[in-house]
Amino acid sequence: MTRPVHLNGRLVPPEEARVSVLDRGFLFGDGVYEVVPVYGGRPFRLEAHLERLARSLAAVGIPDPHDRAGWTALVGELLAAGPPGEDLGLYIQVTRGAAETRDHVPPADLEPTVVAMASPIPPRPPELAARGIAAVRLADLRWSRCDIKAVTLLANVLARREAAQRGAAEAILVRDGLVTEGAASNVFAVLDGTVVTPPKGPHILPGITRDVVLELARAEGLAAREAALPAGALDRAEEIWISSSTRELVPVTRLDGRPVGEGRPGPLWRRLDAAYQALKARHRAGA
Ligand code: PDD
Repeated sequence: MTRPVHLNGRLVPPEEARVSVLDRGFLFGDGVYEVVPVYGGRPFRLEAHLERLARSLAAVGIPDPHDRAGWTALVGELLAAGPPGEDLGLYIQVTRGAAETRDHVPPADLEPTVVAMASPIPPRPPELAARGIAAVRLADLRWSRCDIKAVTLLANVLARREAAQRGAAEAILVRDGLVTEGAASNVFAVLDGTVVTPPKGPHILPGITRDVVLELARAEGLAAREAALPAGALDRAEEIWISSSTRELVPVTRLDGRPVGEGRPGPLWRRLDAAYQALKARHRAGA
């Protein structure tokens, strides 16, 4: 069964979900989005994602089309329209809407275009936990408001493309000598036994998974710090991880073609991944 798409308040089959070529999301990338993981049919950390969505909308001056209860109802409707109990990536996008002509200056009275859709998250391949992934360091060519989850992702796309061309599954972005984040993830390093991740600010997305990982690290009694992470420090990191809603916590075992630590997923990753999987299992069971 194909899941329908939620478009401007209506559930429609994906092939009927059409948006105008004058939509400002299409013309200018003038919109924001969220990706929410759904485990066993239950959205994970939905409140935090909806709060970040509201913050992104406010930051770019797009009126929020729904209050928290409205968004929650919309998500419930979308999930109820598909097979129950699945693990999904839920995508929500709000653009400023379609104007009559292409003009950088947005007209005041536009109706935002609201899209929500869900697609299955495939189970994690066993080799990922066994071997980890490769990453490369690249210059962070993005703008100075990366804390807004904007659909304008060209620089992120080009970074992922270059990483893929170099056989890597993620690009770790570097601005002024400091690691900011991954092209589509947050970054953690283990340095002298301490988990370090760059602090929140305008140059990174405040990842919901990043918060979960910090919570779990502290609950496990690990030393964890939000601190500037020089790009060069990655060369001596015992472990490097990336985190995102769709990928969870992933060990980076090769950086720029060289092994990270011993070139295998490390012991702290194993501990935190086990804690993450346990948290997911409790969430699935409705805890
Ligand atoms: N992206 N940083 C960037 C640039 C991202 O695109 C993402 C996630 C993250 C991690 O945020 P979170 O833990 O809240 O998913 C950090 C989503 C998954 C995407 O664009 O598909």
